[in-house]
Amino acid sequence: MKRILSIIMMAALLLTSLAACGNNAKAEMKEAQAVTEGEKETAENTDTAGSESVSADTEASSDTSSNDTDSESGGTTAHSDVLVAYFSATGTTKGVAEKIAAITGGDLYEILPAEPYSDADLNWNDRNSRSTKEQNDKSVRPEIGSEDISLEGYTTVYLGFPIWWGEEPRILDTFVEKYSFEGITVVPFCTSSSSGIGRSGPNMEALAGSGNWLDGKRFGGNVSEADLQSWIESLK
Ligand SMILES: Cc1cc2nc3c(=O)[nH]c(=O)nc-3n(C[C@H](O)[C@H](O)[C@H](O)COP(=O)(O)O)c2cc1C
Repeated sequence: MKRILSIIMMAALLLTSLAACGNNAKAEMKEAQAVTEGEKETAENTDTAGSESVSADTEASSDTSSNDTDSESGGTTAHSDVLVAYFSATGTTKGVAEKIAAITGGDLYEILPAEPYSDADLNWNDRNSRSTKEQNDKSVRPEIGSEDISLEGYTTVYLGFPIWWGEEPRILDTFVEKYSFEGITVVPFCTSSSSGIGRSGPNMEALAGSGNWLDGKRFGGNVSEADLQSWIESLK
């Protein structure tokens, strides 16, 4: 009987330890699963964080570039302190003005008539052409069609034009009456077939009423850059 009892007890003990083993295995599996899922979550979180930081970086960098653009556009007001303003009916004065701007690093401004001059308008052999009539009437002020310009920041203005009947075309009178040349040195220059600059400078100075007007100079259309350079040097 004793022998049977001890066999039963041994069997019970064996069963209990087997069950315990099973439970432990289950617990370990659960734990392993939990670790794997945890790792997965961490990995996913890391990925998300990574992509978020990239997009934040992207935003940050695009913000920076837009700031740069802002500051660049803010800087567009900066310009040279020399302006070369000119009127040219047939392109000769324009060519000289461009050379002066290249030498001085100045900005160019073309005085364009609101109503362009036709060939007939420019016929100086016709007593009734528009240009002849305008030059014969000192009160005429042809309208300027080009955009207004601010002279703020300019210390020197070279003012170019062709000679019409011995003096400045009337549209130059419109220009000088329109703007204030306070604190600005004005340097008249002209082109012509042969006539000198005559009284163009003093005429415009009187109409402008402001500015430090220097003696003007007449050039042929094919004046060299070297000649212009030495003239510009002589003004200093
Ligand atoms: C209406 C008119 C009048 C002119 N009067 C004179 C003049 O009195 N003396 C002169 O030498 N040239 C005269 N010219 C010639 C121009 O001054 C010369 O061709 C000038 O270089 C043209 O410059 P632009 O091409 O810039 O208009 C006259 C030209 C025109 C159209």
